Amino acid sequence: MIETCLFPAAGYGTRFLPATKAMPKEMLPILTKPLIQYGVEEALNAGCRTMAIVTGRGKRSIEDHFDISYELEHQIKDTSKENLLTEIRNIMETATFSYTRQKEMRGLGHAILTGETLVRHNPFAVILADDLCYNDNVGVLTQMMKIYEKFRCCVVAIEEVNNDEVHKYGVIAANEVEDGVYKVYDMIEKPKKEEAPSNLAIIGRYILTPDIFNILRTTKPGINGELQITDALLELAKLGRVIGYKFKGIRYDCGSIDGFVRATNDFYQRMNQ
Ligand code: G1P
Repeated sequence: MIETCLFPAAGYGTRFLPATKAMPKEMLPILTKPLIQYGVEEALNAGCRTMAIVTGRGKRSIEDHFDISYELEHQIKDTSKENLLTEIRNIMETATFSYTRQKEMRGLGHAILTGETLVRHNPFAVILADDLCYNDNVGVLTQMMKIYEKFRCCVVAIEEVNNDEVHKYGVIAANEVEDGVYKVYDMIEKPKKEEAPSNLAIIGRYILTPDIFNILRTTKPGINGELQITDALLELAKLGRVIGYKFKGIRYDCGSIDGFVRATNDFYQRMNQ
């Protein structure tokens, strides 16, 4: 039902310097797959067929990754290595990729607004590839689609975090309406511990309705001088049109070295099980 998944992928990935000096952070691999490929697979499993990627300077390898590499394919044709490309070939056959560039890094809200040209007037999903989500059965975005089908409004994935960590996230205030499903009435981007309305943090999965674009156009820059998606969503939350969903599964914060290493270890163990 939701055709497009947007991937904001223009950020610099400074926490991984120097690895990310000439390489997009979304291309950092967990085992043999780049982070963004995990995100694309999750979106495909949730029924999205169009991957709309907001890139920036120095991100061309993302486009190349989801394209044919004639020399390579020719070299490994009919060898035992060919099966290593099966997954990525399937993705390329099933999904369509479209790209637009964000010229200045002015926050997640700005990245999403830049993607409007790819999404147009339809509800859409958003995946932040450095939040790598794992569920061995039903993917997190698939879980969220079910919530969207029921409530027909914006859905944000949430997770309980330690009080010392709330300053890293968008944090919600909400009433639980069903097990794990919350009606959001307030949200704050990166609050101080003392100011956080709860310890329910938004993680990098959203389903957004297209009215978010008009709101983003008039939203003032928020914390860190950036246009925040959390601030724009607050307008819809005040109208009762944002659901927080406590997803089932594990999230790895692969934007941090700790989370990245944990994901690598866990995926390696699963591979050998
Ligand atoms: C962004 C959002 C924040 C959210 C987080 C999830 O922050 O602005 O609300 O909690 O992603 O990863 P960033 O990590 O880009 O600073």
